[in-house]
Amino acid sequence: MSNWQEVDTYVKHWIKEAGDRIRKSFKSQLNIQTKSNRNDLVTNVDQETEQYFIERIRNTFPDHYILGEEGFGDDLKDTEGTIWIIDPIDGTMNFVHQQRNFAISIGIYHDGEGMLGYIYDVVHDELYHARKGHGAFMDDMQLKPLEEVDIRDSIIGVNALWVTENNRIDREVLGPLVRDVRGTRSYGSAALEMAYVASGRIDGYMTMRLAPWDFAAGKILIEEVGGVVTSLDGKELNILQKSSVFSCKPGLHENIQASYLKGISLNS
Ligand code: IPD
Ligand code: CA
Ligand code: CA
Repeated sequence: MSNWQEVDTYVKHWIKEAGDRIRKSFKSQLNIQTKSNRNDLVTNVDQETEQYFIERIRNTFPDHYILGEEGFGDDLKDTEGTIWIIDPIDGTMNFVHQQRNFAISIGIYHDGEGMLGYIYDVVHDELYHARKGHGAFMDDMQLKPLEEVDIRDSIIGVNALWVTENNRIDREVLGPLVRDVRGTRSYGSAALEMAYVASGRIDGYMTMRLAPWDFAAGKILIEEVGGVVTSLDGKELNILQKSSVFSCKPGLHENIQASYLKGISLNS
């Protein structure tokens, strides 16, 4: 088993250095390409950042495995051993269009259990981090345990797409929830939205389809402060599989499920 304190020291150092490189990249010309569709963007900076981490992890922790969005890591079949799940830039569309509202996201799991989570808001230089059993923090400030909140007083992160015609969820399902909550927000970075749930800036975040690198770090952060992270139909997330994600304050998670999501079926 790894010395988590030592791993934590390395990650914090690397993530800050990678962030610094990303900020410097604002001055140079981006090479932008599309992946699965014309809105699914990737840049040379996404790829270079993933390679930056992989090189260092391989040299320092040669027996660790890596699952990276841009595909430079390992092809994993199971959750045995120590796995780094990396999204080098979560919110690439924001990175390209806004040069803000994106993050580096790293979750480290051992035998399927979340041990260390990091979400680095590069532009604000804010690092959300957690170590299982040792609390969650934004920089040096410890995040408070999440408290229950009434649905009508809550702010939920949800993309407007899910209440329009789409191919994952019946557009009618989330309308009543959107109407009943105090407000909704959509920031365009799943990792940041989960960091905001962990730090209480929003009360919940839900979406119909995320990959492991989108939610791996956020799950660790939110659970460390007593929040709940499942699929939309309340099932445990598999850290090697794509899934819907429903992350929330305790209590609110059960209340929203009971009142708005009963018997929900999603298209995969
Ligand atoms: C995306 C962002 C976005 C979410 C998408 C993700 P990427 O990640 O997290 O908020 O809605 O599903 O794919 O592609 O910018 O790393
Ligand atoms: Ca992502
Ligand atoms: Ca990404």
